[in-house]
Amino acid sequence: MTDCLGDGAGDMTPMDLYEKLTSQGDTVRTLKTEKAAKADIDAAVQLLLKLKVDYKQVTGQDYKTGCPPSECAVSQDNGPAADGEDMVDPWNVSTTNAKGVDYDKLIVRFGSSKIDQELVDRIERVSGQKAHRFLRRGIFFSHRDMHQVLDTYEKNKSFYLYTGRGPSSDALHMGHLIPFIFTKWLQDTFDIPLVIQLTDDEKYLWKDLSLEDCHRYTMENAKDIIACGFDINKTFIFSDLDYMGASPDFYRNVVKVQKHVTFNQVKGIFGFGDSDCIGKIAFPAIQAAPSFSSSFPQIFKGRKDVQCLIPCAIDQDPYFRMTRDVAPRIGYPKPALLHSTFFPALQGAQTKMSASDANSSIFLTDTPKQIKNKVNKHAFSGGKDTVEEHRKYGGNPDVDVSFMYLTFFLEDDEQLEKIRQDYASGALLTGELKKRLIETLQPMITSHQERRKQVTEETVKQFMTPRPLNYSF
Ligand code: TRP
Repeated sequence: MTDCLGDGAGDMTPMDLYEKLTSQGDTVRTLKTEKAAKADIDAAVQLLLKLKVDYKQVTGQDYKTGCPPSECAVSQDNGPAADGEDMVDPWNVSTTNAKGVDYDKLIVRFGSSKIDQELVDRIERVSGQKAHRFLRRGIFFSHRDMHQVLDTYEKNKSFYLYTGRGPSSDALHMGHLIPFIFTKWLQDTFDIPLVIQLTDDEKYLWKDLSLEDCHRYTMENAKDIIACGFDINKTFIFSDLDYMGASPDFYRNVVKVQKHVTFNQVKGIFGFGDSDCIGKIAFPAIQAAPSFSSSFPQIFKGRKDVQCLIPCAIDQDPYFRMTRDVAPRIGYPKPALLHSTFFPALQGAQTKMSASDANSSIFLTDTPKQIKNKVNKHAFSGGKDTVEEHRKYGGNPDVDVSFMYLTFFLEDDEQLEKIRQDYASGALLTGELKKRLIETLQPMITSHQERRKQVTEETVKQFMTPRPLNYSF
């Protein structure tokens, strides 16, 4: 083993030290698992301890695995959640709180900004449109640099939207629609181009699926996305498996990002370990690349400087913290973000809807009868056990899943507020609340199914062909 103690910590940056410490930690673990000689292990541990002292001296902080030094932008990461904290990363969402994840705390942990009333008012002023109910009700609750996007727009400069989906099954549920419903509103409101990434490569790397399956899910999911009403003249949808090979400019940006992010950084951000396949480790660069307009020369005519805005659920933020850290180093603007809360599972807001648990989700393929049965049988209720008690004490809308779903989908603010008050006072019973929800969801899903039926293979092909959109850049 080489001795890297000699030169001390003198001219090392906090990030260098952090990386050295992380790899020294790995070395110690490897030596221990391989049952190396005691003297070797002791020497490696000594070096580790020395590096920890240096790290504390240089940064003023204790070294924590998975938490890079805080002056580095990517490190505004939560790291693994401490005991009792909500768990939120691209693969897991859970909390012990029946009201759901504490989103204000998440804003602090992720270092993003709250979408406050002032920002909602400004969006209305600048766009000349009433804010979408997702903004009025705090469903899109957090952002990065949205004011900057509005500044750009006010100067009559364009920006573009980027969102995506990992196609892991045919079965989309209602939660999957949230970012797309909102993105459609943004596209209509600001009249701007949109790119949608379908990460079939990601799902192949993470799940036990064949490449063919992932690609097939891409094509099927594209139909559901198109059924949300996107404008074919303003929207480009792409499969990573197809577009990576077809677009030299896209791949060049992937490689640029890959060169500027270290293994230790992705370890810190995503928690990758030594036994994760290298495809996973390289993947974040592929999700980063669409944030740069030069990845789409057919749309932006080679321009590198068109500002990107990404609407997504907050669990995708780690990818874009990384992207924002890299962007200035490769000469591109940082993408701005709008983050949504999660769509709660039927059983309660402790976790989000999951496609792999049929009873936790309402699927876009469910029949009106299935919707009715699922809501009646599985939607967690904040009501009281008996009608008498409910009338006397009232229900709790804050933990009631039917009420939460209505906040996502019932357009009328006054009706929603009346339902809240009546439920809380006990005037409205759980069965009646569920009936309201069922009546809201059934027509919504039926009309989605009708629109999806209209989407032909030919339409999908058009949306997915690299081509100029209706904008001149
Ligand atoms: N990783 C996302 C998922 O698994 C898919 C995705 C790719 C995405 N690019 C995105 C989501 C941009 C939101 C915004 O669903």
